[in-house]
This record gives sequence, structure tokens and C-alpha cells, in this order.
Amino acid sequence: MGQLENKTAVITGGGTGIGLATAVRLADEGAHVFITGRRKTELDAAVETIGAARATAVPGDVSDPADLDRLYDAVRARGRGLDVVFANAATASLIPLEQITQEDFDHIFDINVRGTLLTVQKALPLLNEGASVILNASTAADNGAEAFGLYAASKAAIRTFARVWANELKGRGVRVNAVSPGPIDTPGITNLFGDAADVRTKLATDTALGRMGRPEEAAAVVAFLASDQSSFMLGANVYVDGGENQI
Ligand SMILES: NC(=O)c1ccc[n+]([C@@H]2O[C@H](COP(=O)([O-])OP(=O)(O)OC[C@H]3O[C@@H](n4cnc5c(N)ncnc54)[C@H](OP(=O)(O)O)[C@@H]3O)[C@@H](O)[C@H]2O)c1
Repeated sequence: MGQLENKTAVITGGGTGIGLATAVRLADEGAHVFITGRRKTELDAAVETIGAARATAVPGDVSDPADLDRLYDAVRARGRGLDVVFANAATASLIPLEQITQEDFDHIFDINVRGTLLTVQKALPLLNEGASVILNASTAADNGAEAFGLYAASKAAIRTFARVWANELKGRGVRVNAVSPGPIDTPGITNLFGDAADVRTKLATDTALGRMGRPEEAAAVVAFLASDQSSFMLGANVYVDGGENQI
């Protein structure tokens, strides 16, 4: 028996990287996973990897309320409510303070902050008692890396959402926690930093373990927070960072 037999999960950004690894892991634990993201090809490939019996793709943009309505309509149509939400979709850019434009601000905050808010807000009517909501924050929220101001501030908002929503939803038996990855080797990291060896070495040496993490290592922590194994955890922020921000 898996930890999530007969459970239903939504994973935003579930087509690649940490979201995909989490979708695979939660499905392995017995859940049916609904994944969303803007690129249909990536989602279709993810469903192929996971198996169509365990995964449903609903393409969409988390910053678009109508797209999220379609996602949750599909969950509702399955008729079993919702037990796990992993609000994982986000975007990142490296922009120094003096170069940040209004458009940059709106783009990052629309997806990362408003998108996360809408993802969880629109899930509320479907959440079963005992449901677990996990928000994907980042070590960037508290390490002050240069040119990461917009992204880091958006992730600090995510961490704070976890505290407030945990408090607001505890009466319904819904737990909310955050996860804060350090450098995890994903397509998102390659898009942001390129794949130059010196950049990857720098990301690796920023951690105490001297390596980047694997998406599966972040997914394992999300699976723990999604399951009853973490039943006494509420409003927490769990670092998966190879010690980057810890030691
Ligand atoms: N990798 C790291 O080192 C690291 C460290 C700390 C935190 N994180 C966080 O981990 C999460 C996943 O990132 P990742 O590294 O796995 O990168 P990734 O592979 O690029 O995954 C991000 C996913 O989010 C989706 N997405 C982006 N914008 C979206 C939107 N507007 N609507 C719906 N889906 C959207 C992308 O799909 P589409 O482009 O098809 O929409 C993609 O599948 C993010 O929240 C990121 O901030 C990552």
C-alpha cells in the first residue's frame, strides 16, 4: 500500500522538473494526479511517463482564473474531492534592481504570487478533510542572492502564505506547509542559468553537500508533507537544500 492510496492530487507545473518528479512520486504512492502547465506537449509526455490510469493533464496558466476553473472542473468531475494540492508552478528571472521594469514585476508576481493564491483559493471548495496543501517556496527567499530580488520577494510571499493559510484552514482539518528547495537540477535551472559547467559548479558548491539536488529528492519531501506522516506539521517551511541555507 502506498501512502496516498485513493487520494486525488493537483500539481501545478507538473510537466517538468520538481513538479513532474512529484507527480510521479505521488502516483507511485497511489494518488491520481491532475497536472497543469502551459505546454501541452510537456504534460502529455508526463502523462505517458506516469501512466494514463493515474494521471490527467489539464493544460493552463495558473495566473489565468479561467484556466484554473477548467482544472478544478476536471477534478470535480472525478467526484472524489481533493486531498493534495502542490502549488509548484513559478517563473524566475535574474534582473538587478536598477533594471527591473513594471512588466518584470507584473510577470513574476502574476505567476508566482497571484497564481499560487488562485491555485489554493479555487481548490478550497473541493478540499476533503485531512487534505494537505504544499506551497513551493525557495531558499532564494532568505539568502539575498544578487539579481534575484523579484523572484526572492515572490517566494518570501509564498512562505508567508503558508503560515497564514495554515492558520486559516486548520479548522477544516486542512494542513498547509511550504517546501524550500535549494539548487535542484531541473529544466527551470537550465533555462535560468544556462548549462555552462562553471555555473553548475557554483550552484553545487553553494550547498554544504557540494552538489545539486535531484528533483526526486524534493519530491520525496513533498510526498512526506502530502501524507499523514507529517500530521503534526502546520505552517512549516521544510528546506531541501543540501544545507545551502543551513550550515
Ligand atoms: N530548481 C531549483 O533549483 C528550485 C529551487 C527553489 C525553488 N524552485 C521552485 O520549484 C518550482 C519548480 O521549478 P523547477 O525547478 O522544477 O522548474 P521547471 O522545470 O521550469 O518547472 C516549472 C514548471 O512550472 C510551469 N509553469 C511556469 N509558469 C506557469 C504558469 N504561468 N502556469 C502554469 N504552469 C506554469 C512550467 O510549465 P510551462 O512552462 O509549460 O507552463 C514548468 O512545468 C518553482 O516554484 C521554482 O521556483 C526550484
